[in-house]
Amino acid sequence: MNRQRLLLDTPHQFLAWLSQAREQGWVSLREVDVAHVFAVAAVAALTRYDSRDALPLESHEPGTELSVAARFAHAIGLDEVRDGADEREPMERQRTVTLTLVRGSSPEAFAERIAGKIVDLMLPARPRSDAANLFWFVLVELLRNVGQHSKDPAGGIVAAQRNDSGPYALDPALQIVVVDNGIGVFEALRRMRPSIQTPGDALVRALEPHVSGTFAEGHSGSVHNAGLGLFFISEIAKKTRGRLLLASRGASYFLDRSQNASAQPVITNGSAPDYPGTLVVFETALSEVSNYDEIMKGIREHAAERTPKRIVQHWLRFEAPPDGTFRTLVAISSEDTVAARSFAVNVLEPRLLRREPAALDFANLRVCTQSFLHALLHEAVRLAWALKVPIFVVNAAPAVRAQIEFVESYSLGG
Ligand SMILES: Nc1ncnc2c1ncn2[C@@H]1O[C@H](COP(=O)(O)OP(=O)(O)OP(=O)(O)O)[C@@H](O)[C@H]1O
Ligand SMILES: [Mg+2]
Repeated sequence: MNRQRLLLDTPHQFLAWLSQAREQGWVSLREVDVAHVFAVAAVAALTRYDSRDALPLESHEPGTELSVAARFAHAIGLDEVRDGADEREPMERQRTVTLTLVRGSSPEAFAERIAGKIVDLMLPARPRSDAANLFWFVLVELLRNVGQHSKDPAGGIVAAQRNDSGPYALDPALQIVVVDNGIGVFEALRRMRPSIQTPGDALVRALEPHVSGTFAEGHSGSVHNAGLGLFFISEIAKKTRGRLLLASRGASYFLDRSQNASAQPVITNGSAPDYPGTLVVFETALSEVSNYDEIMKGIREHAAERTPKRIVQHWLRFEAPPDGTFRTLVAISSEDTVAARSFAVNVLEPRLLRREPAALDFANLRVCTQSFLHALLHEAVRLAWALKVPIFVVNAAPAVRAQIEFVESYSLGG
């Protein structure tokens, strides 16, 4: 019997297995020996009751033994996702996070909440560890992408797994997966980026800094996006000897640095098996993530090198404001990108338009996502510069300040 192993070491084997299942018109886990969480999430996305062309899943024949993969799939909530029942409670804390649906009226706020929940289940230490911060960042960016770009009315599915047996025994790794059945990266990018001709090109370009389907070539950001989410994620995978799989309508990209620190990605385009939506899997060994701030700093520097600058500009003032300046504490409750944007639109930008200076106090923030600062500052800093109104920044921790300066430089430079 041909036993399948659906593992992230060999994702093309998984994609081929899936394509075969789609061709035959149904999925069966009977012949599958073991499966990583990403494969189960992808099967769940394709067989879910509310997917446009849900693929039937072969039901279990009573009296026969379930494969290991099938048992795992049921344990992490495949049936609940397929039937639209309530999601399962996470079963084994710190080992797996059950399949969780990504939906809601405000996908962005939802993204941050779900990411926080997942990270707290898998890496529960307080204060959050460097690894927790890193996985939180990756999850938020991937979940935001589903909400902002996939156009999948059912939303996506997210799950996580700690791998610590077999080849992972000496060096446990965390695997996270975010999958949707939406339009795919090529479709999302091509209108704004006519130079992108194939799905394979689209994946490669989407991983470059400031490439987004929400603004045209040559710009550095739109109100909500900087085109940096996937760039950061792929750079994190490179820096932490991780694995990144992106499979999206017509193409796939797989980078595996776990065995070889300079391995190059394998990219397929056109006729190779793919995924009918967008499947993103990220995995890295926990031992590789010892310093979140250092990793992010290196990536920001790399992004800055790769972003053509017309003029280098600085406008923010990292100093105490004169007495009487309007002062506000940033992120009083949480790092909510929607709240950041709404604060910018309702409080900060109207003041700047009236030419009234403002001081932003970052005392409560130790880490923040790129998207949070982008939502808060991208437009404001451009407006302040154009109107020559000062914005003061106080109490920013060194890592946060570095990130603020990064947003400032691309916002004013591009
Ligand atoms: N799940 C998805 N479905 C469809 N298209 C996607 C998906 N994820 C990413 N994309 C496409 O890839 C582009 C790049 O994504 P990336 O996360 O790097 O940037 P962004 O979301 O545009 O900006 P930022 O992440 O900085 O807010 C997106 O603009 C979109 O066109
Ligand atoms: Mg994004």
